[in-house]
Amino acid sequence: MSTLILDGVSYTYKNGDRKVVNNVSCLFGSGKVSAVVGPSGSGKTTLLSLMAGLDQPTEGDIYLDGEELTNMDLDQYRRERVAMVFQAFHLFPLLTVLENVCFPMELNGISKTDAKAKARELLASVGIETEKHRRYPSNLSGGEQQRVAIARSLASGARVILADEPTGNLDKANGERVIEILRQLAHQQRYCIVVVTHNLEIAERSDKVWSMSDGVLVEQVTQPV
Ligand SMILES: Nc1ncnc2c1ncn2[C@@H]1O[C@H](COP(=O)(O)OP(=O)(O)OP(=O)(O)O)[C@@H](O)[C@H]1O
Ligand SMILES: [Mg+2]
Repeated sequence: MSTLILDGVSYTYKNGDRKVVNNVSCLFGSGKVSAVVGPSGSGKTTLLSLMAGLDQPTEGDIYLDGEELTNMDLDQYRRERVAMVFQAFHLFPLLTVLENVCFPMELNGISKTDAKAKARELLASVGIETEKHRRYPSNLSGGEQQRVAIARSLASGARVILADEPTGNLDKANGERVIEILRQLAHQQRYCIVVVTHNLEIAERSDKVWSMSDGVLVEQVTQPV
């Protein structure tokens, strides 16, 4: 089980003069894809970075499975409990596909041999063929790079995946494939998945949709058309 709960969370940037995240209370449950939609500048990425433990709320608390983030070792939390997927993939350009996926496991002390075996399995699960494992990311298509990034996010063992515009750089077909992988991870393997998106198709294919406006997060009761 992996459930993230935000309780009255607000955030003001150090040099900022307003709450970019304003009194957000919500629950992101395991086994679900939750979409967060909203206009540019409404605070979506900031909200994800708080859930990822990259920044601490100026007010309020965040809990993972009942444990408050500020009581945890945040380095360990970021290494093992949550993983992020970005619009621009953020793969390491000088590591091969296989090495990219091995990286979080080696960071967590898993042996090279075990990491490689697990990485091959994860890459196969997102549809990256064996002959592409030795390539550098720049020699893959955007859709393939994003699938490698998803495999790498799973490699850390994190049960919470936070994705910021994961299909933003992809065409429709590749975007759909990425959504389908995220849905399967949630529905078949009980991951907790939060996806920030401008893409209405992702929102429609999510289990829950939240909309953010000026830092305020509201659950949408009806799915957007
Ligand atoms: N490091 C920073 N310092 C000060 N203000 C910031 C910083 N990063 C973001 N902001 C401001 O916080 C607000 C929310 O930004 P955020 O990146 O969370 O929006 P967003 O909803 O993700 O937008 P987009 O859809 O364009 O990615 C914006 O007004 C932005 O200018
Ligand atoms: Mg953003």
